[in-house]
Amino acid sequence: MNKDIVCVGAGYIGGPTMAVIAKMNPSRRVWVVDINKERIDAWNSDNLPIYEPGLDEVVREVRGKNLFFTTDIEGCIKKCDIVFVGVNTPTKMFGRGAGRASDLQFWEATARNIAKWAESDKIVVEKSTLPVRTAAAMSAILNTHESLKFTVLSNPEFLAEGTAIKDLLSPDRVLIGGPADEAGKRAVDEIVDIYAGESDCWVPREKILTTNVWSAELTKLAANAMLAQRVSSVNALSQLCEATGADIGEVARVMGADTRIGSKFLKAGPGFGGSCFKKDVLNLVYLCETFGLKDAALYWNQVIAMNDSQQRRIVERLFHALFNTIANKKIAVFGFAFKADTGDTRETPSGAVVRMLHEEHARLAITDPKALPNAKKDLADIMDGSIELVEDPYEAAKDADAVLVMTDWKQYPALDWSNIYASMRKPALVFDARNCLAAEELRKIGFKTLNIGK
Ligand SMILES: NC(=O)c1ccc[n+]([C@@H]2O[C@H](COP(=O)([O-])OP(=O)(O)OC[C@H]3O[C@@H](n4cnc5c(N)ncnc54)[C@H](O)[C@@H]3O)[C@@H](O)[C@H]2O)c1
Repeated sequence: MNKDIVCVGAGYIGGPTMAVIAKMNPSRRVWVVDINKERIDAWNSDNLPIYEPGLDEVVREVRGKNLFFTTDIEGCIKKCDIVFVGVNTPTKMFGRGAGRASDLQFWEATARNIAKWAESDKIVVEKSTLPVRTAAAMSAILNTHESLKFTVLSNPEFLAEGTAIKDLLSPDRVLIGGPADEAGKRAVDEIVDIYAGESDCWVPREKILTTNVWSAELTKLAANAMLAQRVSSVNALSQLCEATGADIGEVARVMGADTRIGSKFLKAGPGFGGSCFKKDVLNLVYLCETFGLKDAALYWNQVIAMNDSQQRRIVERLFHALFNTIANKKIAVFGFAFKADTGDTRETPSGAVVRMLHEEHARLAITDPKALPNAKKDLADIMDGSIELVEDPYEAAKDADAVLVMTDWKQYPALDWSNIYASMRKPALVFDARNCLAAEELRKIGFKTLNIGK
């Protein structure tokens, strides 16, 4: 078995993960392949297809040395005995399980390609997030090959966008699930060696956790569901704070001081976004339904319902603050990315809110340091002249009735808010849906302010 690695899927997961694997394993060659030529060309250019702090530096260090991006999927499968699969697994939008189940067509196509082109035994590693027991289906497809042996492992990725490189370089844990037989154990050891890095320079062995395949597959869904549930719980409490005069910042700070609760992921805001949380919770709902666990399905479904409610509530509160009519008023939306330090806009709360405001006939000026190209694609169907995409936040706020802060980019608190106030229509409102600005200072300038959970 050779030590070369190929990853199928050059997206938010495949690109950064393989760049760091290549950096930490200089004597292994690592190929990242994709059917999307434009994406591969971008990975080979100075303008990488995704923005992630620190990514440019790592890619520059290893690209062309032991990291290669190519569309030659067949050639790479032939020459590598370790195949990671990081293709997309979006929510299925048709047929059985529509709106909840994962769409596994990209995964299955990849498995069939591996079976078709392989000329030696392979370890196939699930990097994508998949429903529990997918590895069984994959093994069934792969092992239709007459003479070759394929061992399917699950190695879900826990990195968070915006901190991907930091998370990859020093992860809380790495999880590898494999079969209990001898071949399974040998395959798990091979993947443990990759994460330990050459001369044990990377992940400490005690942080590399091994389980059976089904536990590994389910753990990824479970971890995302628990994180999403925390966001929805704190947002549910934020609504009660707004109604009672309690302050969610204070409530969260004191709750989080309890070591059983912990302080992370207790920030109220516009709800979770990104490609994973909603998709993975929906997938968990579908799995619960499939196994007849109705109450468990209802419970997890409520995490999504709460998230949607939080976004509707932002629009309702803005509506009331603007004297119950938004039609023709200009609203400057600060931030379209689903969180700071990424250009990713998949399932962004800002997108949902923008659509609701557009239905109210608002005029919208959307600004974001990294996400405007994606905003242009996402909003193409409603770009009717009432929505502008503006690089400069000062320009976006000019003549606006309200600024709505939807992403906590660190640039925003540092803006000259007196200047912004002077250029807006009065009374000027700032709705800080991330609680990232100094509200007291804004009020001193003359703004009316709204926050989440206060
Ligand atoms: N984005 C995240 O932060 C994150 C975090 C953890 C896990 N994940 C999981 O990782 C997986 C990938 O997510 P992503 O955000 O990187 O998706 P992505 O859409 O950015 O990338 C997936 C890539 O796979 C390619 N692809 C699809 N079918 C292919 C095929 N048959 N052959 C070759 N390439 C193919 C697509 O062209 C695309 O470039 C998903 O299952 C996701 O849930 C994502």
